[in-house]
Amino acid sequence: MQQSYFEGGDKVAGEFILEMRNITKSFPGVKALDNVTLKVRPGTVHSLLGENGAGKSTLMKCLFGIYALSGGEIFLEGSKISFENPAQALENHVSMVHQELNQVLDRSVMENVWLGRYPMKGCLVDHKKMYEDTKRILTVWELMLIQE
Ligand SMILES: Nc1ncnc2c1ncn2[C@@H]1O[C@H](COP(=O)(O)OP(=O)(O)OP(=O)(O)O)[C@@H](O)[C@H]1O
Ligand SMILES: [Mg+2]
Repeated sequence: MQQSYFEGGDKVAGEFILEMRNITKSFPGVKALDNVTLKVRPGTVHSLLGENGAGKSTLMKCLFGIYALSGGEIFLEGSKISFENPAQALENHVSMVHQELNQVLDRSVMENVWLGRYPMKGCLVDHKKMYEDTKRILTVWELMLIQE
C-alpha cells in the first residue's frame, strides 16, 4: 500500500472485509440510494441484484470514489475510508469493472489496455515494456497474433 487514505480513529474489529453502512446518495431530483447497508465477508463473492435504476452502479461508484456520499460510512478491513477519486481506491486495492466500457478510439489497443497505468521508465512511458506485456496478455488469452 503506497499511500493510505484510511481515516484514523474509527477502526472497528469485525468479521467483514467491507462494510457500507447506511449509504445515502442523492442527485438533483433523485434519491438514488436511501440508507443502504452492504456487508461483505472475506473470501466471498456477491451479486448485487435490482431492477434498472435501483442504484447498483451508484453504490459501487460510491465505494470506488467516483461519487461523494450524501450520507453513511464505508469501512474497509475495519478502517473508515473515504476515497476522493478512483486513483485513491486503486492505490488501496479497490477496483471496479465498469458497466459501460469506453475505449479511447484514437489510441491503440495496447494503449487502451494500459490506460491510466502506463509502465514508466523515469518520466517517460516505457513503450517496449507496454508492448511486451500486451503481447503476453493477448497471447495467453489467444486474442490475436501479433505480427512482428
Ligand atoms: N450521475 C447521475 N445524475 C443523476 N441521476 C443519476 C446519476 N447516476 C444515476 N442516477 C440515477 O440514480 C438512480 C440509480 O441509477 P443506477 O445507475 O445506480 O442504477 P442501476 O441499478 O445501476 O441500474 P441499471 O440496472 O440500469 O444499471 C437512477 O434513477 C438514475 O437515473
Ligand atoms: Mg448499473
